[in-house]
Amino acid sequence: MANTVVSLVSIALLCITIAQGRPNFEATPSSVNDHGFQIDGICQTAVVTQGYKCEEHQVQTDDGYILSLQRLPAGRSGKKADKPPVLLQHGLFCDALTWLINGPDEALAFILADNGYDVWISNTRGTKYSRGHTSLSSNDAAFWNWSWDELASYDLPAFVNYVHKNTAQNIHYVGHSLGTLMAFTAFSGGKVFNMLRSAAMLSPIAHMRQVNSPIARIFADQFVAEHLGLIGLHEFIPNGEAAAKLVEGLCTTLKIDCSNPLAFFTGPNCCLNSTKLNSFLDHGLQSTATQNLIHLSQMIRTGSIAKYDYRNPLQNGQHYGGVLPPPYDFTAMPKEFPLFLSYGGSDMLSDVNDVQLLLNDLKNHVAKKLVVLFRKEYAHVDFFMATNVKQVLYDPILSFFLVN
Ligand SMILES: *[C@@H]1O[C@H](CO)[C@@H](O)[C@H](O)[C@H]1NC(C)=O
Ligand SMILES: *[C@@H]1O[C@H](CO)[C@@H](O)[C@H](O)[C@H]1NC(C)=O
Repeated sequence: MANTVVSLVSIALLCITIAQGRPNFEATPSSVNDHGFQIDGICQTAVVTQGYKCEEHQVQTDDGYILSLQRLPAGRSGKKADKPPVLLQHGLFCDALTWLINGPDEALAFILADNGYDVWISNTRGTKYSRGHTSLSSNDAAFWNWSWDELASYDLPAFVNYVHKNTAQNIHYVGHSLGTLMAFTAFSGGKVFNMLRSAAMLSPIAHMRQVNSPIARIFADQFVAEHLGLIGLHEFIPNGEAAAKLVEGLCTTLKIDCSNPLAFFTGPNCCLNSTKLNSFLDHGLQSTATQNLIHLSQMIRTGSIAKYDYRNPLQNGQHYGGVLPPPYDFTAMPKEFPLFLSYGGSDMLSDVNDVQLLLNDLKNHVAKKLVVLFRKEYAHVDFFMATNVKQVLYDPILSFFLVN
């Protein structure tokens, strides 16, 4: 074990060496047209190309981040939406492309638009098209001073408020992975509820003690993110050479075959189309804050769902007024709020036993208002990229929205 830790520290040091030698990672400079729209953004590259109308929007959070949202106001036929707004929130290392990559027949954003919904797709702080801030640059350490606490308390409320204000209607929410943790957290604080109609949670992330992804497990157990933070790597770039070396090093050290890192991280996805997977990876996995990964590692190690732990009684005291970070209470969600929850038997991040704990938290939920869909063969990525995801998952979501 000691050897493993030593190797990990040397890998981490290798990372910083590489990181310092690499050019600064910045979203490719945006080209902006006369109306201020990014012509190389998500709309132009992934929506308009499929024959759909698309609008680029920007929203500012209360802590100064400038985030992008895309809107599909009409279906393929051009018919304007006549159903309520839906907000789609991606997960870790992803962005809006999550909901588009599967193309018009199998991607949720297009399917919803074709069914008359007013579709809004959000991009959280740090992702390619959400790297603006009123006073910070993404090269500043302070730009990366956040975890999912802030995604839940700033980004999500900013998105929901913006869509609500622009449409004057309550919203259906769909989250994948970290997008579900953001929502459960915001809900537990009583935030954003009054502007939502329902929520669909795909590959839910809440309790994480039983995560059985070898990569996530080792990452947490060996305090890898903490090491990266200590050596000053505040932005975690999953595409970067440093991350690739890190995973390679972990696999070699632990003698596991990582020829398919995606499977070792997310589980054996049943139903991916490799052409689509490659174009998703070409777009790039998205950066996150190292602090966010530290926070997730804390959850994996302790099994608790609490605010970020500064691992220092004084700092916890300053932020929370106590030596320990306060827990979130997911049992506090209103019992009548319409919830759709779907999880997979092969998912290594949203483990079935952890999902059982979440369902236990929801045991007092009004039965009619909680739809649970289990798919034995699905792993984490299948929930947005499976070739059969429309029939398996999105059609049931459409039915759920119709009655809520
Ligand atoms: C990080 O943010 C916290 C508030 O959440 C603040 O107290 C702290 O000073 C910030 N640290 C840096 C390095 O910006
Ligand atoms: C995979 O996706 C590509 C690109 O969208 C498509 O042309 C191809 O037919 C798909 N393959 C299968 C087996 O569905």
